[in-house]
Amino acid sequence: MTNDPMPEATDDTAPEALDRSQEWASPRRGGPALTRRKVLGLAGMAGTSALVVAASGPPGSASPSMRLGAGRGREGGQGWIGKPLPRVDGPLKVRGAAPYAAEFTYEGMVYAALVFSTIAKGRIAELDTGATEAAPGVVFVLSHLNAPRMGPMVAFGDHEKAAGNDRRPTMQDDRVRWNGQPVAVVLADTQEEADHAASLVRVVYEAEPATTSFAQAVANGTETAVLGDWPVHVEIGDAEAALSAAQASVDAIYRSPHQNHNAIEPHAVTAVWDGDELEMYDSTQSVVHNAWTLAQMFGIEEEQVHVVSPFVGGSFGGKFMGLPEVLAAAAARAVGRPVRMALSREAVYRLVGGRALTEQRVAIGADRNGRIDALIHTGTSTHTPHNPHPEAFVFPTLTSYATRTLKIDLQWAYLDMVSNHSMRAPGEAVGSFALESAIDELAHELKIDPIELRIRNEPAVDPLDGRPFSSRNIVQAWHAGAERFGWARRNPTPRAVRHGDWLVGMGCGTATHHYSREPTGRARFTLTREATLAVDVAAHDAGMGTATAVTLVVAELLALRPDRVEVRIGDSTMPGVIAGNGSQQIATVTGTVVAGKAAVVAELLRLVRPGSPLAGLTSEQVTPHEAGLSATEDRARYESYASILGHAGLSEVTVDASGGEPVELARYSMASYGAMFAEVRVNAVTGEPRVTRLLGSMDCGRVMNARTAASQFRGGMVMAMGLALNEATHYDERNGRIMNPSLSEYHIPVHLDVPEIDVIWTGVPDPHTPMGGRGIGELGVNGTGAAIANAIFNATGTRVHDLPITLDKLM
Ligand code: MOS
Repeated sequence: MTNDPMPEATDDTAPEALDRSQEWASPRRGGPALTRRKVLGLAGMAGTSALVVAASGPPGSASPSMRLGAGRGREGGQGWIGKPLPRVDGPLKVRGAAPYAAEFTYEGMVYAALVFSTIAKGRIAELDTGATEAAPGVVFVLSHLNAPRMGPMVAFGDHEKAAGNDRRPTMQDDRVRWNGQPVAVVLADTQEEADHAASLVRVVYEAEPATTSFAQAVANGTETAVLGDWPVHVEIGDAEAALSAAQASVDAIYRSPHQNHNAIEPHAVTAVWDGDELEMYDSTQSVVHNAWTLAQMFGIEEEQVHVVSPFVGGSFGGKFMGLPEVLAAAAARAVGRPVRMALSREAVYRLVGGRALTEQRVAIGADRNGRIDALIHTGTSTHTPHNPHPEAFVFPTLTSYATRTLKIDLQWAYLDMVSNHSMRAPGEAVGSFALESAIDELAHELKIDPIELRIRNEPAVDPLDGRPFSSRNIVQAWHAGAERFGWARRNPTPRAVRHGDWLVGMGCGTATHHYSREPTGRARFTLTREATLAVDVAAHDAGMGTATAVTLVVAELLALRPDRVEVRIGDSTMPGVIAGNGSQQIATVTGTVVAGKAAVVAELLRLVRPGSPLAGLTSEQVTPHEAGLSATEDRARYESYASILGHAGLSEVTVDASGGEPVELARYSMASYGAMFAEVRVNAVTGEPRVTRLLGSMDCGRVMNARTAASQFRGGMVMAMGLALNEATHYDERNGRIMNPSLSEYHIPVHLDVPEIDVIWTGVPDPHTPMGGRGIGELGVNGTGAAIANAIFNATGTRVHDLPITLDKLM
């Protein structure tokens, strides 16, 4: 069974867009920081309704403009999950009324520009800022000479609230650790003045020998990578011997280059200090983590830092706690004025990092029928010391195929470069390219259909530790996808289909993305006498549709129409420690909603008066129904939320709830899966590759919002197109300088490159997760790169192992 996630816009079952307010208002009521400051409004908003940050204003849930479903909506609450609800923040965004971090303006604010080191390693011998300080508009120049004392960033994984991407100190000494490291921050009255003045800073360096090429890093010696406390090395049986003895085998090296983050909104921070209190508008995917980490670094209390991130234009793993937050906070502290640091595109490349370079070996040995006997996935990724983000490309190989012997090994080679950052489906995206290319090569060698080969090696339990799968329907996804894509029409002989100058081919690959759910999920639920429900949760929406999907879950569980629900996110003072990462937010927040529903119901039953139709019933005996509670066995025994609260003389009830430990992960092997299909054409004369069709046939548990989920899958698949065909950060190996830090020279797919992308899913709910969902955010990136590479092989007969697959490799 498959569901079409994208009904026509006229589909009567599609809910209307919510249009809940004309202005965004900070959901934080009565908080100390926001009310004290004079926030002038939105930059560039002249002529439109000015944004007012109204910390004491009414919650948006009481907005009179809510009208979704009027006349045709359902009040019952059943059936909301999976509906293609348009983004709740859509109307604000299309009106330009959704403020981003660089759009908050404070009185007296100064603008920041960065100066980058031009050597990879050494020390700053002299920093001459005379011309800079004399330039028009310049207010201050921050450097290691005058930066406030700060502890090092606490890195992701070192503490439940840590999300730093680098444990190295920032501007605390004269050391240069990579080419592009910020050595000065120039603050001026305008961005233009800051940018100009930054160009006048003169730096004299004492350079030291640096490791700036992969070959040199490998020659220096590698080390076994460590994930958490797991040294990444696995051996089950003697895989090398089994490979040698196999009737058929492939054994190849696959390479992927450094890649950089290119969110549509470059990183931005607007920061202001008031005494020892720091307030920050931040484009981030980790508000609570950033507040905690900044407090550690500046030696203040966590409660003294307030990070707000209402809207984010893409994060993708690149917007955890990082240098923009540190430098903006340090600069604002040093100058004693609010600072806006909006990174240039170049600065994103020099400061933020991205995917590490990998060199991977995948070897597979099988019998004549394609049964895998040996599976080997080893190799090296580049790394910086003190960095928490490994490019763990071996992940997909741990659980994808039944094999008698297995060998896994991940090595780190150290470079003097910007810290690599997690980047969408870290490890898995490039690992699945190598693994799923190798599977295709084995299928070709054995003359077995590649889908059939995968199905023959479908594991019954987790190959690594024997845990049962919580729910795994990849075979069903393969069959549905093959049918829909027209796989039967594929000619298995390479270079056999030609239309004019264009060679045409089809390919496929498996997507896998591990499931997770944060144990620190927590949220606050406020039910009002008007039967509106507000959820406050320190989660993130960088475009994924988090708040929209959660709105549907809340509507379902509390039997409210979506327009009665408001999900408020992106503020470090809200409950929960939830980063917007790892494809886990919806599972984590849904876990809190399940707990929150139980807590709200318990609280309401505590409040019912003796004469209520619900009197005497326990939580187990009632069900939310039509904006109220009913006896499960007798729907007529009903009282509305409004009535319960009214009789109790309350305007609202508030409960906090926690989703609890992800115990499901201890018992089950859990991941989302996808059968990814690509059709390409390659120009026989120029070698130009073009993707003409993509299909993702997903098995990701229950989908909460069909519209935003399909959009997530499509976004991931577009990213995989970039990975397969376009993206590469080019370093000058002589000095470690990134040579293409701009969108004109770092290529990503543009609209004209992207074909129709079809998405379907099995829709099988996972019985072991909150509400049956698993992760979807990063799934589409995985397997798709291999599907494209395999389609190119089918089209041309050329097997390219080195990403990206550019036309020079196909001529
Ligand atoms: Mo993601 S790369 O876990 O934001």
